[in-house]
Amino acid sequence: MRIVRVDPGDDVALRACHQVHVAAQGADEPLLPPQSFGVFRVWLMNGWDSDPGEAWFVPGEAPGEALGWYRLALPDLENLDRGFLIPVVHPASRRRGIGRELLRHAAERAAANGRTVFGSAALRGSAGDAFARQAGAQPGLAEARRVLDLRKVPDGQFARLRSTAASASAAGGYTLVSWTGPTPEEYLGRVAEALNAMNDAPRDPGYEDDIWDAERVRDRADRLLRLSDVRGYSVAALHDATGEMAGLTQVEVDPEFPDWGFQGLTAVLRPHRGHRLGLLTKAAMLEWLAVAEPKLERIITGNAASNQHMISVNETLGYELVEPSWQFYDLPVASAASASSAAASA
Ligand SMILES: CC(C)(COP(=O)(O)OP(=O)(O)OC[C@H]1O[C@@H](n2cnc3c(N)ncnc32)[C@H](O)[C@@H]1OP(=O)(O)O)[C@@H](O)C(=O)NCCC(=O)NCCS
Repeated sequence: MRIVRVDPGDDVALRACHQVHVAAQGADEPLLPPQSFGVFRVWLMNGWDSDPGEAWFVPGEAPGEALGWYRLALPDLENLDRGFLIPVVHPASRRRGIGRELLRHAAERAAANGRTVFGSAALRGSAGDAFARQAGAQPGLAEARRVLDLRKVPDGQFARLRSTAASASAAGGYTLVSWTGPTPEEYLGRVAEALNAMNDAPRDPGYEDDIWDAERVRDRADRLLRLSDVRGYSVAALHDATGEMAGLTQVEVDPEFPDWGFQGLTAVLRPHRGHRLGLLTKAAMLEWLAVAEPKLERIITGNAASNQHMISVNETLGYELVEPSWQFYDLPVASAASASSAAASA
């Protein structure tokens, strides 16, 4: 089987991979639209956090056609033993061993880059879930998904919740600020601190903390907003006494699918927890989006089941659980290489 590296300048290959993504999304994901081509291209080439990586694809018979592809993220700042792998095969070409070949190839690339463990994720109960389990991957954390259907929210609800949260946090002395697009220079360092606070969120053992600083936020965190048409909204609570960014929440909207919003990070820094800043920033965000994104109908978020504080804020806002959840896995690279070659020669 021919497996070819995706060249970032090769629009034909990128579009072929995008078509596979669109078809796979239609088959595997009961809820969300696919990524637009602009978002997909940035993700395939850069990942969400701009970790370096490689993308490889299986060309089809016809020019401009692909049967499948994978993206292997190769973090270069921490978690140097890990590679995060997402293989995708066109629904029309499944159960012919392409996924297995992609996994074998990715195991070679991961080993060549000094990686010993794959991380991956699939929707529970999907073909990807079955594929991962047969490959010997160990399930770890599950991430429940919740959706807020804005069409069901009574008028004035977010204003009421915001005002309740504002009274609870008033004694702490906080001021809300907001921005669209990439982080303004003056907040880069403070957004880095908020990202570092995410290291407290539940995750599987074996992962190191991601350590952010201003430069990393500028270069990496905002790459999707710099390179695509995605609209990014941020609301932060600044602590009046110290200027610290006590809390931050971010939502993104892909203009091709303006009815869906994607919740990005929400973080409250440890010294400021317990002041209802999660609810305050999120309710303020929802009031803002009602004006800025009039076509928005639903927002999706994901949380580990053990992240009780975040879940209770989300449920207060009206988020409801949706199936299926995301399942994360770990798979030793060595066993991926041997399991898939054993299966191939069986
Ligand atoms: C996962 C995926 C890449 C598998 O691609 P594929 O080419 O169909 O995989 P293979 O043909 O190599 O399957 C290898 C084995 O996985 C298992 N498997 C794959 N799909 C399965 C399914 N739908 N149900 C049960 N078992 C399945 C089988 O054991 C299969 O061997 P068999 O066909 O000899 O029984 C494809 O289903 C996909 O793109 N899914 C969406 C993206 C995704 O979830 N990626 C995986 C992240 S871990």
